[in-house]
Amino acid sequence: MGVIEDERWKGVYRMDDSPYLLEILTELRNRETDSIGFRKGLVKLGRFMGYELIKTMEYEKLKIETPLEETEGIVCRDRQNVVIITVLRAAVPMMEGLVKVFEKARIGIVSAVRGKAPDFKIDMHYIKIPQIKEEDTVIIADPMIATGSTLVEVIREVRRYGDPKRIVILGVLAAPEGINRIKSEFPDVEIFVTEIDRELNDDGYILPGLGDAGDRAFGLPVKLSTLPQLRSIE
Ligand code: URA
Repeated sequence: MGVIEDERWKGVYRMDDSPYLLEILTELRNRETDSIGFRKGLVKLGRFMGYELIKTMEYEKLKIETPLEETEGIVCRDRQNVVIITVLRAAVPMMEGLVKVFEKARIGIVSAVRGKAPDFKIDMHYIKIPQIKEEDTVIIADPMIATGSTLVEVIREVRRYGDPKRIVILGVLAAPEGINRIKSEFPDVEIFVTEIDRELNDDGYILPGLGDAGDRAFGLPVKLSTLPQLRSIE
């Protein structure tokens, strides 16, 4: 896992040493990838980034009996004490992959809508987070770490539900601006991404990025006012 040398980015990791993850990322970046392929890519990244994350967890050795003799094994209790916070919409497919790895995870759902530039005001309409225990690792899944404003709000919320062992953000891409914002407010929060991109554009999109992850995964939202009016049939 790529460690970043900058002291201010302590606890920020790039998983760019995995050709498999980078190949999935390439598919996600490609504008020709349709929604089905995009969702599948996010599910795969959730799953395989989850496996990578386990490498950073603590485990204990234990003695077990095979049918033939005694031997040593391990148990990773951290893997069983996980809360996944899913930031709607784009993190939903990532969560699907993550629960394959952290099958006992408790799940929190947060909806956060980012307003337009230059304020990027965050509105959080729906927050359901389970009780967080001190032995828990909280994984906040959000594919795009752009301005960092949404994640700062989500971390503040998470902290109201308990004081976990670790808070980890799992994303696909991050912009340096987003990492700086999160790290300046929460230096202990860890950030794991597949790749760190160059910068944000004026609309808060990551460059080169992959576009709007929610729209690409689920299709462009349609304004109700543009739909033909439905009339009830008597
Ligand atoms: N959210 C996205 O979906 N894409 C970006 O580039 C930035 C934020």
